[in-house]
Amino acid sequence: MSIIEIIRKKQQKEELTKSEIEYFVTNYTKGEIADYQAAALIMAIYLNGMTNEEITNLTIAMANSGETLDLSSLGTVIDKHSTGGVGDKVTLILMPVVAALGIPVAKMSGRGLGFTGGTVDKLESIKGYKTNLSIEEMIQNVKKVGISLISQTANLAPADKKLYALRDVTSCTDSIPLIASSIMSKKIAAGANKIVLDVTYGSGAFMKTKEDAEKLAETMKQIGELANRETICIITDMDQPLGYSIGNSLEVIEAIEALKGNMKKDVKHVVLTLGAEMLKLAGKGEDISKNEEMILQVIKNGKALEKFKQLVQNQGGDVSYIENTEMFGKAKYIVPVYSPISKNKINKLNAEIIGRASCMLGAGREKKDDKIDMAAGIVLNRKKGDELKKGDILAYIHTNRKDKIEEAEKQIILAYTN
Ligand code: URA
Repeated sequence: MSIIEIIRKKQQKEELTKSEIEYFVTNYTKGEIADYQAAALIMAIYLNGMTNEEITNLTIAMANSGETLDLSSLGTVIDKHSTGGVGDKVTLILMPVVAALGIPVAKMSGRGLGFTGGTVDKLESIKGYKTNLSIEEMIQNVKKVGISLISQTANLAPADKKLYALRDVTSCTDSIPLIASSIMSKKIAAGANKIVLDVTYGSGAFMKTKEDAEKLAETMKQIGELANRETICIITDMDQPLGYSIGNSLEVIEAIEALKGNMKKDVKHVVLTLGAEMLKLAGKGEDISKNEEMILQVIKNGKALEKFKQLVQNQGGDVSYIENTEMFGKAKYIVPVYSPISKNKINKLNAEIIGRASCMLGAGREKKDDKIDMAAGIVLNRKKGDELKKGDILAYIHTNRKDKIEEAEKQIILAYTN
């Protein structure tokens, strides 16, 4: 078997066999297939797609490319994953909430991908917070405080780790086979019995239409069933950024505010919808509206915030950042962007443009090893449905890169007016 032949087959829209897929995954993980060859293959998959059987085989091969965890000592573990978005800080709010309600949270999160952010990058904006814990440390933390959020360990679905980083820098992110196999391989390897997936659609998601999001959801649900993991998919709107802040520490600050009881309406909707399903899956209650009440209650009585503090402290983070969000480093330049037009109602706010502008300001990566500027990003001042007068402030740019401000201003205006 040869990688050149495998690339050629996919380039010619032929179906790959199970053993060809396994050959690629095993040898790429070992470093015996070069990045440029893997890049050619994922581009061919991106362009020509995969059958359901190929996607399942790819997922299983990726899940088996490293260790697979047994979390049975923690009871029923429910994992949550989003297919990605702009301003999506739901994990940071939701996981302490469900942990405060007694559901063990042992979650591995990802870094930013394409124009979307990643929870691990966000958590690292809290001084001292360690994301690269071992599995044993993660399990110990869950036993101690009920929650641990870490980065994907080197040996958990290592094929995905390599492919994820490669897709990020080769414009191969928005592909159903690649997203489904990436997410489900990690979830299967990470040992959760039950999985809740937030499948996003709209300008800020990889799936631009609801139909594509439904297709992605169906694909992941089928893989979950085959792997014996109860999988629920919730389709959510990501046509504008979620909440008001985009960028790593800016989003953590918004999440802390949410846990303190000041949660923005659209963020609250997603937190309640996903959270209520997680509680149901965990056997905490069948009635969705009662489950939503329970969630609001642990936010109101401060237990969810307390859980977040325990999480941060337990992973070496400085809790004073949570108590006083002024501790987060600020960007050197904080620049308002003014609206050049008036509108009765803002009817669009392109989240992908905002996500890309935020990356350009320093919040994302262009190359695999780029260092992120934790303070960079965008804080919106107007969202869809708001009235807009010429001269109103649309958003604030946060950056340390003076040379990027003018272009970011143009992009932000375009996101509202295009
Ligand atoms: N999240 C993942 O883990 N993988 C993807 O491909 C997209 C979102």
